[in-house]
Amino acid sequence: MGNSQCCKSVDTSPDEAEAMPTLETWPAAGTLKTLIEVPAVSGGNTVEERMYKVNLVKSGGQKLGLDVDYMAERGVLPILEIKGGLAEQWNKDNPSRKMNRGDSVVEVNGVRGNVALMLERCKADAILELTVCKCLTYGHLVADLAKLILAKGCGPIMIRLSFSDAGVFNGKDGCPNAALRLQGGGEHSLGANSGLPQVAIPLLQQIAEKYVPSLISHADLWALAANVAIQAMGGPEIPTHFGRFDVKTHDQGVQSAEGRLPDGDKDAQHLRDIFHLKGFTDKDIVALSGAHTVGACHSERSGFEGPWTEDKLKFDNSYFKDLLNKTWTLETTKSGKKQYKNGKTTMLPTDMALVDDPKFKEHVTRYANDQQAFFEDYTEAWTRLQELGCGQLRDTL
Ligand code: HEM
Repeated sequence: MGNSQCCKSVDTSPDEAEAMPTLETWPAAGTLKTLIEVPAVSGGNTVEERMYKVNLVKSGGQKLGLDVDYMAERGVLPILEIKGGLAEQWNKDNPSRKMNRGDSVVEVNGVRGNVALMLERCKADAILELTVCKCLTYGHLVADLAKLILAKGCGPIMIRLSFSDAGVFNGKDGCPNAALRLQGGGEHSLGANSGLPQVAIPLLQQIAEKYVPSLISHADLWALAANVAIQAMGGPEIPTHFGRFDVKTHDQGVQSAEGRLPDGDKDAQHLRDIFHLKGFTDKDIVALSGAHTVGACHSERSGFEGPWTEDKLKFDNSYFKDLLNKTWTLETTKSGKKQYKNGKTTMLPTDMALVDDPKFKEHVTRYANDQQAFFEDYTEAWTRLQELGCGQLRDTL
């Protein structure tokens, strides 16, 4: 997920690395039962289970023996190593509150959220009270997301959440800022976002409670969740960049989907009107639409019904193959929406526009014949989409 560590430490910097959980080391989709049985969030599901206090009293020039990872943008200090000194003694004397690599210091003598000040307190104060959270690192976050996505099969709605958060950009304003989590109006209430506040955000709630805001913003979490989902479902590994800000009130987000988010009832011209304004080409529009290779339409959300492809949890190029090779029959859904059907699979009018329009069709054909080309073009366009209107973002969390 493109996150390297930037280290600093209380005493000295470590170089030896114990295995951290990563998406690669997490069990594959086949072990779903085991995954459902493990706690939803690593380190414990409640604040009480996850947090513990550590009291250290410096005397006789003894070292702390605590190496932490330092990045000014973060609010916590992940523990990289305990080596000797007071920290090792604490661990021997307090096995129930033992500090482990991968736990993070979230507060030092009442200071929270400012890691430079927290480090200062560690160095300057003779008596230290640390509040530590178990398993609070980028690696644990990715592993918790992968576990959620595999256990709940919710990868597709994570991608849609990230698309809707970022996709409101219209060339002038709108950006991914997690506005649609805030009730009362704006993005939360847009028809085009139906299902996201009701389903996607609650799915992420436990993870957000643990990691936001100390390690990550909601908007960055949504971008990362989508990229973990794409990879977990067999798609390309997409780098996530960080530094999106969360708005505090819904009126800081956009108030209308008009000219910003696409409408599935429409045609090729509508797709161009919406996506060209954001800086995307015809090729980008086709590549991005390939996300419909996963997921489904839900009548209670959009009025459309059914999955696009046979395996709605596999991120591959079958959407393009099906667009070209299957016979699609126009039907009207219970809610009166026009859509195309083949067996249980579905295409929206905007999906069919990609084969009806000769310029779009060239790209559909290329992606149907070359999955690697789809993955490369998708990665490039999707990364740009996730960062619309953001300015400079960081490579590391
Ligand atoms: C091209 C114009 C697009 C239109 C008209 C469109 C429309 C829709 C609609 C109507 C749904 C069904 C929502 C529901 O009933 O649950 C949907 C779902 C979805 N969309 Fe799009 N979308 C478009 C582009 C995109 C893009 C660019 C992405 C991401 C790159 C994306 C990703 C998804 C995903 C993954 C789902 C499935 C969600 C789920 O299974 O819950 N869509 N979209």
